[in-house]
Amino acid sequence: MLRGFRRHRWTHPAARWCHPAIPRKRIYLRTTLPPPTPTRTNFLFSSNNVHSSIMVKAVVIGAAGGIGQPLSLLLKMSPLIDDLALYDVVNSKGVAADLSHIASPATVTGHLPADDGLKSALTGANIVVIPAGVPRKPGMTRDDLFKINAGIVRDLATGIAQNCPEAFILVISNPVNSTVPVVAEVLKKHNVFKPKRLFGVTTLDVVRASTFTAEVTSEGADPREFTIPVIGGHSGVTIIPLLSQSKPSVNLSQEQIEHLTNRVQFGGDEVVKAKDGAGSATLSMAFAGYKFAEAVLKAVKGESGIVEPSYVYLPGVPGGDEIAQSVGGVDFFSGLVELGADGAKKIRPLGNLSDYEKKLLDAALPELKGNIQKGVSFVTEGSKL
Ligand SMILES: NC(=O)c1ccc[n+]([C@@H]2O[C@H](COP(=O)([O-])OP(=O)(O)OC[C@H]3O[C@@H](n4cnc5c(N)ncnc54)[C@H](O)[C@@H]3O)[C@@H](O)[C@H]2O)c1
Repeated sequence: MLRGFRRHRWTHPAARWCHPAIPRKRIYLRTTLPPPTPTRTNFLFSSNNVHSSIMVKAVVIGAAGGIGQPLSLLLKMSPLIDDLALYDVVNSKGVAADLSHIASPATVTGHLPADDGLKSALTGANIVVIPAGVPRKPGMTRDDLFKINAGIVRDLATGIAQNCPEAFILVISNPVNSTVPVVAEVLKKHNVFKPKRLFGVTTLDVVRASTFTAEVTSEGADPREFTIPVIGGHSGVTIIPLLSQSKPSVNLSQEQIEHLTNRVQFGGDEVVKAKDGAGSATLSMAFAGYKFAEAVLKAVKGESGIVEPSYVYLPGVPGGDEIAQSVGGVDFFSGLVELGADGAKKIRPLGNLSDYEKKLLDAALPELKGNIQKGVSFVTEGSKL
């Protein structure tokens, strides 16, 4: 039995044979068939695993926002989740009431700051996804964003440390390069830091890399067929798509490589500009956030071999020290993370980088180091817990 997870009472081995509502034949099928091979159609909303009886409580913080609402909808649709708690400083009860009418198994509750709402949302949580904060608007510097969101994320991390220290934490709030170190430092201060369970969600970069690459390769290519590692960090030049490692491999000119790289690095700006003051990527981010949450939960429930790029604390993940050495000493980095029952099982080596990708890495490191330091100092020097 996995730590922190409850088993559904009627699928407990002792109970399943006597519950009147579960036919024997179904139990036989559930316990003996191997998990089906993943297909494109079950990419979302599927639960192909042998431990699907583990109960999961998921929490979305910032659930009433542009990302939070569609992300909560996707989580509500997921068979991987039993309880869904939505927390926000506004309108979370409305979003919860709306979602609760959807005919899917997860129960939904809404929580506001009043009546210790953060505590009630987080208590018993197995996975917490955080898209809380302000999005980037035209004219806003990353520094402006950091000042607001770092404080929000710090306070939320304190709530997690106090109420659900075992939970998997998925940070979406930007700037991820700095907000993930903020969360790590808060958890360290509370002596509950579990590096394998803390992730900065960089999946949108991975999703964009597949989509944009499919667009330039051949007409009608399906973006879901492309797996392209994206490493480094999660802003501008710190985002490094490894097009040389694309599967299937792609034959691109240097001009195409540079165009694609730039588009993945600054894809967020396309959306900010097109929304013209109404915020940043929300729907594609909700898709990406769900995709990563789904990967974490599938691994927790027993599916093996799931690898997703994510921004993690290198010294706390097996294989992380080797990555830190190879890239020149950073504590946080997005690499190819193999997921397991306890979160980040290991981080895979970066593989062979092209000369162009090595240059991108050199250009990324000073900024990434500065971003990390900013997040760490915010907690260690600047702020009260
Ligand atoms: N990781 C990524 O790839 C990625 C992509 C896009 C956006 N983002 C980031 O995600 C965050 C949210 O973006 P959005 O477009 O949904 O913004 P939004 O303003 O639409 O929603 C944010 C929500 O957070 C809530 N909130 C604010 N302070 C809170 C607190 N202390 N506790 C709980 N909830 C709180 C707000 O009430 C709001 O509902 C931003 O920081 C944005 O930059 C990340």
